[in-house]
Amino acid sequence: MELKTIKLIFFTVITTIYLLSFFIVPPVIENGDQYLIMFSSFKKKLAEAFFGDPITNTDAYIVSTYYYPKSKSLGENALAMVLLMNRNTMRDITKYKMHLVATNGSGYSVELAPKILKEAYANCAYNNIIVHSTVLLNMNKLEIVDGNTRMEVSFDFHTLSLSDLLQIPFRQPRVTAPAPVILCISPQFVAEQWQIFVTHAHIAHYFGGHLHLYVTSMLESYFNLVKEYEKLGYVTVDYWMRYKFKNKTFDSPEPNSNVEWRNQAGAHTDCLLHYDNL
Ligand SMILES: *[C@@H]1O[C@H](CO)[C@@H](O)[C@H](O)[C@H]1NC(C)=O
Ligand SMILES: *[C@@H]1O[C@H](CO)[C@@H](O)[C@H](O)[C@H]1NC(C)=O
Repeated sequence: MELKTIKLIFFTVITTIYLLSFFIVPPVIENGDQYLIMFSSFKKKLAEAFFGDPITNTDAYIVSTYYYPKSKSLGENALAMVLLMNRNTMRDITKYKMHLVATNGSGYSVELAPKILKEAYANCAYNNIIVHSTVLLNMNKLEIVDGNTRMEVSFDFHTLSLSDLLQIPFRQPRVTAPAPVILCISPQFVAEQWQIFVTHAHIAHYFGGHLHLYVTSMLESYFNLVKEYEKLGYVTVDYWMRYKFKNKTFDSPEPNSNVEWRNQAGAHTDCLLHYDNL
């Protein structure tokens, strides 16, 4: 058979299947509800398999938020957030419009839709996302807006403390570094290998490094040991958030367990933002 004929047959078959399945079969089996239900659920499943479900899975979690009066990599008055977003939020998640309102001491406020960056493609339910934007001078209030709902985030830059109104915690970037080299260690859970920690802490310290260790959970005796090393300036202990839900089987899955490598990438991004200015 000639190539041209094969192409023609192929095209005809595809067109016939398309026309049959979308325009001819449904009216023919109009009175057979069970077939129509089967057919529409098949179409929905097929579309979801390729494009994801854009309507029902839009949840996102803010891991941390930073405001930089001056940042080396993000410029002046910059805002950066580390998030986990459901990968089915949108076909191209970077086109998602998140609305934030930033306000400063003189009551001046701006509404902005920050740039969204996707860290890597992963097959898990949640993806690592970073958003960043230029906000305004001396920002002291940040709200996230979704239609009629406003959620408030606030930080007191005079006392450098979180205010009572806080709903999403802010972090301040470091102004001094404990050592010229920082080693970021992703969240430890049910940790018990204290021998590795001791070796690592001493080697890093010897060569002028400092550990930034995220902790989700660890044996109490090991934790007490780490705290002693923290006093000696070998390590900074940082606590990694585990999200608690009233009804976790129903409300939502624990996002850190539904992202590649239990969100190691999120922790390293957080660590980079934390020491950005140094
Ligand atoms: C608030 O932001 C505006 C616009 O950037 C700026 O002109 C003003 O000085 C800022 N207020 C304070 C208290 O920094
Ligand atoms: C959690 O939600 C499910 C589904 O609605 C319900 O069956 C279950 O009883 C709830 N559990 C609690 C502890 O509220």
